[in-house]
Amino acid sequence: MTRTAAARIPTPDGEFQLIHFRNNWDAKEHLALVMGEVTGRTSVLVRVHSECFTGDVLGSQRCDCGEQLAAAMHAVAVEGSGVIVYLRQEGRGIGLAEKLRAYNLQDEGYDTVDANLLLGHQADERDYTPAVLILQALGVASIRLLTNNPAKVESLQSHHFPVVQRIPMQPSVTHENAAYLSAKVRRMRHLLDLNGHVAAQTDAPVYTPLLTQLSKQAAARFHSTGQPFVTLSYAQSLDGCVAAQPGKHLDISAPPSLTMTHALRASHDGILVGIGTALADDPSLTVRLVQGDNPQPVVVDSHLRLPASAKLLQMPRQVWIATTDAAPQERQRALEAAGARILRLPATANGQVDLAALLIRLGEMGLGSLMVEGGPSILTSFLAARLADYAVVTVAPIFVGGVHAVNQSLDPSPEKLPRITNPQIVQVGPDVTIWGALA
Ligand SMILES: NC(=O)c1ccc[n+]([C@@H]2O[C@H](COP(=O)([O-])OP(=O)(O)OC[C@H]3O[C@@H](n4cnc5c(N)ncnc54)[C@H](OP(=O)(O)O)[C@@H]3O)[C@@H](O)[C@H]2O)c1
Repeated sequence: MTRTAAARIPTPDGEFQLIHFRNNWDAKEHLALVMGEVTGRTSVLVRVHSECFTGDVLGSQRCDCGEQLAAAMHAVAVEGSGVIVYLRQEGRGIGLAEKLRAYNLQDEGYDTVDANLLLGHQADERDYTPAVLILQALGVASIRLLTNNPAKVESLQSHHFPVVQRIPMQPSVTHENAAYLSAKVRRMRHLLDLNGHVAAQTDAPVYTPLLTQLSKQAAARFHSTGQPFVTLSYAQSLDGCVAAQPGKHLDISAPPSLTMTHALRASHDGILVGIGTALADDPSLTVRLVQGDNPQPVVVDSHLRLPASAKLLQMPRQVWIATTDAAPQERQRALEAAGARILRLPATANGQVDLAALLIRLGEMGLGSLMVEGGPSILTSFLAARLADYAVVTVAPIFVGGVHAVNQSLDPSPEKLPRITNPQIVQVGPDVTIWGALA
């Protein structure tokens, strides 16, 4: 970290030196705003502030960043010396464009953490290494850190930089930032006293009864049969489609339904998709939008077509691939080398994995409940063989005119068609979800 240039900046709080740094750590232009003498000093008052264009420059009320920056400058001025390290990691490290996208998701009801996760980011991608390098370059010996964020203190300490005290910063709670601050407290461990200003936590989601029913029924079934309780879950359009074109992914349901899907994943022991879905969507099948454990991923793949580059092979849980004896041995070796576990099972007359035999095997392997997330060929096979216990079908208010959820005739006689008995119907965001036991 090397000083590039510095200049005197008079502010309403007094005169600061603004120091520009260049560094070998990242490609960003980090800054330090310094007042008074800090070189060789201990217990220097410091704020490590991550850039927030909307809060710092525009005074956006969506966050408390601008207020924190102003309060830190004021606190340093009152003390007569100190440093504000200004790190160029906008939007908790995801950049301004992605932060704006995350704001739109927040306006749809996601909190600040889920919005980042949904966009494929981490909840917080900031790196405080440059702050340590800047403080070292300034010759600061130890600091009192103005922050509510324990992760910031832990990060500086993990670099062996002495933080002798954390000084909390009390934000003003407004109707615009209350949910954001509340999420920081609930999801990011921020140490904040919100003085009861925060909007009441959202009520339990409308699908909570579904999760309760499912766990009870799943436990009972596994106990009595030793086989997993099977829930079919998918999202379809008003015209019954799950995709626009064969083998192509289409986002059908709205974000609140996606959160429900993650809650469903978290409430099952296993999650199963067909190889068609694994190839089209390259899913990770993990739980990201709610708290909970990842279910055991299972892919039904009679000929071991799953590529070694599939995301499922990079996930924390080892993927199980159900296949048949017809699958080539060299594909088994390649997939095992990539981390998969291969389950060889009997084949049906048309050479596909026998799903009844698979359920017996999964029960023996300890899976008490299995969520089947598609696609149409697998859903159809489960329905046709009457192997599913429950269905959770989300209907989004769109027309697609594409690939239907059930892609073959199930039974010629209408009275024998699979149906949800006693269906429960709830609205989840703009979508409608129908769930219930299958008969
Ligand atoms: N909207 C939603 O909720 C949703 C959910 C999931 C998927 N999708 C969409 O669905 C599409 C993929 O559907 P898909 O029908 O092609 O794929 P799929 O149902 O995921 O997988 C079908 C494949 O699984 C294998 N399989 C093995 N044993 C089987 C058995 N007993 N019964 C049926 N299949 C068996 C077959 O390939 P092998 O013979 O090679 O083994 C078959 O082609 C994609 O466009 C995806 O985006 C939508």
